[in-house]
Amino acid sequence: MHVAIIMDGNGRWATNRGLPRVMGHRRGVKAVEDIVKFAPSIGIDVITLYAFSTENWKRPAKEVETLFRLFKFFFVQKAQEFKRLGFKVCFIGSRVGLPAAITQTMDHVSDLTQDCQRMTVNIAINYGGQAEILDATKIIAQQVADGTLSVDDIDETAFSNATHLAHCAAPDLIVRTGGDVRLSNFLLWHVAYSELSFSDTLWPDYTPAELSAVVNDFASKDRRFGGLTKKAV
Ligand code: IPE
Ligand code: IPE
Ligand code: MG
Repeated sequence: MHVAIIMDGNGRWATNRGLPRVMGHRRGVKAVEDIVKFAPSIGIDVITLYAFSTENWKRPAKEVETLFRLFKFFFVQKAQEFKRLGFKVCFIGSRVGLPAAITQTMDHVSDLTQDCQRMTVNIAINYGGQAEILDATKIIAQQVADGTLSVDDIDETAFSNATHLAHCAAPDLIVRTGGDVRLSNFLLWHVAYSELSFSDTLWPDYTPAELSAVVNDFASKDRRFGGLTKKAV
């Protein structure tokens, strides 16, 4: 099962307590650790986490810097443990514009864990769904220009294979915390038949118990993919 999470509400969690927004991001990182470690126990074998969008550059430079510092600290601190736990860490999104100090730690953790097989952890940094679709379109166009792909062979599989999530099946379930009901440019190509779950809980307060309840509920869904329910056939 592939679960993808839009981890929203860090800033409000802090502001509600009269704290600076960065304190919410700190607590958000703790929630990431708890959720990731718990995930395999409920049958999740791929988890994709939206950490920084292509639109998040619009935030004050200080907040962006703090987020990157937290990411770096987290990857350095957790790399060995994730390897030991069998978590293969992959990054999706664009590297363009990311500080070298971050991309180096990203490379370090993904190299270290690349043979792990218990669960794949995709972390979306500087990720935008529209940018991903454009990237894939350019790859496909180049293949056609090179003569390695014919126009008639451009199908859903060829396109999926050119996206950042080519190494995974599409997400079964998208979870968004923080109370808003929107996708904010997350996985636009891949959500075609994902189940969607929106929670009012702010990300730093999100617990394994809440994820477990949502995943249980998912198990009872009748996923018809445009066909008919099994009972009706
Ligand atoms: C999500 O929390 C984390 C990132 C986008 C990096 P926010 O920082 O968006 O928190 P709110 O939505 O302002 O509460
Ligand atoms: C979505 O949250 C992006 C991440 C969780 C990384 P935002 O806080 O950026 O989304 P909007 O601005 O509310 O749509
Ligand atoms: Mg937000």
